[in-house]
Amino acid sequence: MTERVYNFSAGPATLPVSVLEQAQSEMLNYRGAGMSVMEMSHRSKAFESIIQQAENDLRSLLSIPENYKVLFLQGGASLQFAMVPMNLLPKGSPADYILTGSWGQGAFKEAKKLGSAREAATTADTNFNRLPRPDEIKLDSRAAYVHFTSNETIFGVEFVGEPATGDVPLVCDMSSDFISRPVDVSKYGLIYAGAQKNAGPAGATIVIIREDWLERVPEGLPAMLDYRNLAKNGSMYNTPPCYSIYICGLVFKWLIDEIGGLEKMHALNKEKARILYDAIDSSDGYYRGHSEKECRSLMNVTFRLPSEELENKLVKEATAAGLDGLKGHRSVGGLRASIYNAFPKAGVEKLVEFMDEFQKNNG
Ligand SMILES: Cc1ncc(COP(=O)(O)O)c(C=O)c1O
Repeated sequence: MTERVYNFSAGPATLPVSVLEQAQSEMLNYRGAGMSVMEMSHRSKAFESIIQQAENDLRSLLSIPENYKVLFLQGGASLQFAMVPMNLLPKGSPADYILTGSWGQGAFKEAKKLGSAREAATTADTNFNRLPRPDEIKLDSRAAYVHFTSNETIFGVEFVGEPATGDVPLVCDMSSDFISRPVDVSKYGLIYAGAQKNAGPAGATIVIIREDWLERVPEGLPAMLDYRNLAKNGSMYNTPPCYSIYICGLVFKWLIDEIGGLEKMHALNKEKARILYDAIDSSDGYYRGHSEKECRSLMNVTFRLPSEELENKLVKEATAAGLDGLKGHRSVGGLRASIYNAFPKAGVEKLVEFMDEFQKNNG
């Protein structure tokens, strides 16, 4: 390839070109520091201002209330699967898990090792093609928290709002729809997200935690797994993932300055997803969406063709045409087009044209 492709990868995923260009221009000498961000001390003034600015911009994008801490951690969302119960699930209390796909199952599996986690609902019986109805969610009012996955990346099902949990606070894995739309952070005790879909490159994991929840953290946890310790040290108990945080900061600025905030981003994301789902729905059943219409993800569009052979053929021909990363996850099969924030509308339009042509030639 001599040009950039349209990259439909589920993550790490495409980043805004202007962000990559800025990083390129600052690579050798970051704003007069005489070195790149990769080379500078995390205790330097320059890096302190990078992490502070990234936090401020994220706070402004999501209107994060003052009584929440923002942490830039490592270990991916997968480590949060364990850190959440380790820190926030006291002995003797249950925690409720709403399972709408493999990532929720992964979080539940870790929580069961560490405390008394309950399955409050699951849609496994229909291969996670939908969200549970409110009457299917069986909550325990004594639960320390209710955990859910706002967007299940593999199956392509997304919550529009939050599940109703009464007074029990929410914990959410927002990895694959983080900062794709406005969210009322005050409804959550904790939000976590691996950076590598909407926020930046792999390496950083963002945690937003209500301050009073830090008091629940038991004594004696290993320092690197202890939210209270990590918060007290401003995410710098050890060397943070500096370069990843720097790029996340550029992405936050891009969202503010070039996109105009999360309302605008959400509108763009809805428009991109609509174009693709319309193409699926108007194909006379040639393309079939995996998830039920009302739970369709704006981020990961999952669909099948009449046969596996045709699916493989489409992926191969699409890749050759510069439409990369469309192969679906093996647990769903078929195709998955991940169209996160930075994925351009022109790429969705090109895919739709390609699908139309493919159907004509192979229908
Ligand atoms: C919703 C969700 N949760 C968790 C993960 C795991 O993230 P990580 O690889 O950062 O541990 C992913 C990765 O794709 C994801 O999409």
